Amino acid sequence: MTSGVTQPTDIREVAVIGLGLMGSGIAELVARSGRRVSAIEVDRSFLDQGMARLHASLDRAVSRGKLTDTARDEVLARIRPTDNVAAGVGGADLVIEAIPERMELKRALFARLDEACRADAILATNTSSLSITEIAGGTRYPARVAGLHFFNPAPVMKLVEVISTVLTAPETAGTLTRLSADLGKTPVAVTDRAGFIVNALLLPYLNHAIHLLETAQATREDIDKAATVGLGLPMGPLTLLDLIGLDTCLAVLETLQDEFGGTRYVHAPLLRKLCDARLFGRKSGRGFYDYRRQSPAADHGPSPVPGEVALIRERNGRLDELAGQIAAVGISVVPQPSGQTGLVIVAADPRHRVLDAALAAGHPADVVGVHFVEVGDGKPGLAELVLPDVTAAGTAAKAAALAARIGLNAVISRDRPGFLLEALAYAQFNDAVRMFQDGYASPADIDTAMMLGCGYPRGPFQMLDEAGAANVVSVLDAMHAATGDPAFTPVPLLAEYATAGSRFRAGTGG
Ligand code: 3HC
Repeated sequence: MTSGVTQPTDIREVAVIGLGLMGSGIAELVARSGRRVSAIEVDRSFLDQGMARLHASLDRAVSRGKLTDTARDEVLARIRPTDNVAAGVGGADLVIEAIPERMELKRALFARLDEACRADAILATNTSSLSITEIAGGTRYPARVAGLHFFNPAPVMKLVEVISTVLTAPETAGTLTRLSADLGKTPVAVTDRAGFIVNALLLPYLNHAIHLLETAQATREDIDKAATVGLGLPMGPLTLLDLIGLDTCLAVLETLQDEFGGTRYVHAPLLRKLCDARLFGRKSGRGFYDYRRQSPAADHGPSPVPGEVALIRERNGRLDELAGQIAAVGISVVPQPSGQTGLVIVAADPRHRVLDAALAAGHPADVVGVHFVEVGDGKPGLAELVLPDVTAAGTAAKAAALAARIGLNAVISRDRPGFLLEALAYAQFNDAVRMFQDGYASPADIDTAMMLGCGYPRGPFQMLDEAGAANVVSVLDAMHAATGDPAFTPVPLLAEYATAGSRFRAGTGG
């Protein structure tokens, strides 16, 4: 940097390089803030596609009444598309790189930027997880290089991670932080570590969801529903994978694996297979879901709702309410199975196998465990219907039919500790505590990042506090015992909070 501290107001002209999903969103966002944008993409057809995406996004904002026709035209007039990097970056105060996640490509581009940019221009990368230190190391002025990490869709998600390397000048990070706020975003400042905050927590969770799918723990719809209904997330993990792009997700996991090792970041084989098949998600028309045509509604045939249900009530008071709901639709509820009983319901606990209760009930083939997840805010909760593998083939259909008849929001899970919701969420809470334990980010920053970067209604630490550290530890212990996977071992700090009965977000009201 040649002069004093650059202020956001000094950043009038921004070059965005790479007009993929993220680059086009970033170009739109910057142009909407009144700045001039060079939208650079060396591949002419990608340039056209990126500009078409940008036009469509602005048109959508107009159709939703968020932007006038005139304002849209003014935004577009500020954007100069080009396939010429040197010409595009020559006058830029700030360059934001958003090209594919390959180190050799980024290093080559930044070496070019050294020559083509003004000496006082800031060079930012939107890399999802690659080492910014390594990218900066190949430039002559690494003090002006930093990470500026946006979230998809960039115009919508409120978080920006501002990432400093050991070489980044504090002025560079300061300017990017203030600029992010000026763009209407909430910046969180972090240092250079694989996955930063959000991707280091999001990607193992998404990968875990793929693992649940490929080990037939549940259907893709039920895995997604567990997250949206049970945790209140805006999208289920498999839908989100499709939105981000499966190739991007695989690349981030590989970087996390290289940096941290262990079992938690080893990509699920199915992820690699879908990438090999070039089924990258929404952007290629198909990933976990097919976006090229309307999926026909699943046809489960006639619903065999049983005439008599045995409900074995033990410690779970919620089953009393369930008994009332079942009786109210004219199905007889008995306390123990008889010859007429079509379905046996027991209380399920994510720390224990339902199988044991099923065997104790005497009719294991007809048993379904029910675990209720209360979501608060007056919204209907989620019922996890848990089936041991020894249940009869038709039991799942009967349980689903009963749930539909009485209006339960239900998902079906195989009988593995953690079922669906706790398996996904608690493993992520453990990762979040590990990040805090490592001294990388505070619980407050981690919660903010997940809420603003991924639309979580509450951050992982707030949810962990609500669930109780001791409860989370015991479910993780059960997951670890059942799978042998060390990734589920509660991290020492979580175990310590559980023992002490402490909360991570004291004073936030949960
Ligand atoms: N571009 C621009 N605007 C968009 C958009 C897009 N691609 N998609 C949606 N929007 C806008 C809509 O216009 C609408 O705006 P309005 O409220 O001003 O009218 C608003 O977003 C809400 O859209 P919808 O009503 O159509 O849809 P939803 O309410 O279902 O919200 C969502 C869509 C915002 C994507 C929401 O589902 C969400 O928050 N999902 C989570 C996304 C997430 O986790 N992103 C982070 C991924 S990780 C990442 O990107 C990092 C990378 O390094 C891997």
